[in-house]
Amino acid sequence: STMTLVDSFGRTHNNLRISVTDRCNIRCFYCMPEGPVQYLPRKHLLTYEEITELVKIFVSLGIDRVRLTGGEPLVRQDLPVLIRSLKAIDGLVDIGLTTNGILLADQAQALQEAGLSRINISLDALDEASFREFARREGLEAVLRGIEAAQRVGLDPIKINAVAVRGLTEKQIIPFGEFALQTGIDVRFIEYMPLDAENQWEREKVLFASEIRQALIEHFGPLTPESTSSREAPATDYTFANGQGQIGFIASVSEPFCNRCNRLRLTADGKLRNCLFSLEETDLKSLLRSEESVDHRQRLIADAIRESVAHKKEGHEINTARFIQPARPMHSIGG
Ligand code: GTP
Ligand code: 5AD
Ligand code: SF4
Repeated sequence: STMTLVDSFGRTHNNLRISVTDRCNIRCFYCMPEGPVQYLPRKHLLTYEEITELVKIFVSLGIDRVRLTGGEPLVRQDLPVLIRSLKAIDGLVDIGLTTNGILLADQAQALQEAGLSRINISLDALDEASFREFARREGLEAVLRGIEAAQRVGLDPIKINAVAVRGLTEKQIIPFGEFALQTGIDVRFIEYMPLDAENQWEREKVLFASEIRQALIEHFGPLTPESTSSREAPATDYTFANGQGQIGFIASVSEPFCNRCNRLRLTADGKLRNCLFSLEETDLKSLLRSEESVDHRQRLIADAIRESVAHKKEGHEINTARFIQPARPMHSIGG
């Protein structure tokens, strides 16, 4: 496609993150409420046919990669069916998945066969007691089995995402460094962002990338910046001195990368968000389900997408007094 989605700051958007459900089988405190969750009613969820129809329009406008997220995407039935359907879209070059890994051991093979390109697995701690402090449920064993299954079926690359929280993550740094060395899997630490459901985030609770990097260097020796770190990806990657082990940092709070942002987000109920932190959304589901002719509908949706991109703000304001946390917590945005 020769079309591009360029915003008023010159950023080109080629990356769409698609949340397929707001449900999850664990309760990470930085993303989900602990108590009963008001999930989206079934009828508000986009069907796989509807997602595919929307993605075709996005691709005609310049999107060429998508990432499936949740909640936990593997709790939605038959995800490989969606992957196959997306895979058939001309112009889509990359389909990723971000999962907590709990259900992955059973599904890895089917996901790989459906054509999944890349998988990111969220894992914040490498011992069961600490895992529970994050997830408020058990699950470490299942996740580790999921990671092994992903490797076994040849999913590549595999990345681990660990949210970096002061008071909890310090004791995970060296274990994750060793894990990265042993497995060759890229481990990325992500600064805790204000997107939790209980409004408990405080700046003091963020363990900064620079602090983690320092702790790794003290233990493992110098880190070498990866020359392959892509300029648009949020992570900056390093290897240990012997050229082995990959460690990355997504420093969303201390070093915002909004000036390079290439992402749009589609929620499970069909709302387009032009930023993780947007306070406004564009309702694509209503347009999709309207009685218009297919042609007219496609035109209305394409216009709505361009309009949303045109109104994208310069970046998040986490580091200012003006910051307002969006009403949607992370599990209903998709990360
Ligand atoms: P690849 O670069 O394709 O491997 O994926 P990714 O790192 O974008 O995806 P992933 O879902 O693993 O995201 C990792 C973390 O980065 C999550 O905590 C996301 O919320 C965060 N993140 C991803 N995209 C953005 C973004 O556009 N802005 C901000 N602030 N954080 C983001
Ligand atoms: N801050 C930073 N990262 C978060 N994630 C979820 N909530 C937050 C938050 N508040 C991460 C998850 C997952 C990815 C999609 O987003 O760990 O890896
Ligand atoms: Fe993009 Fe918004 Fe994330 Fe900044 S905070 S990188 S603008 S999604």
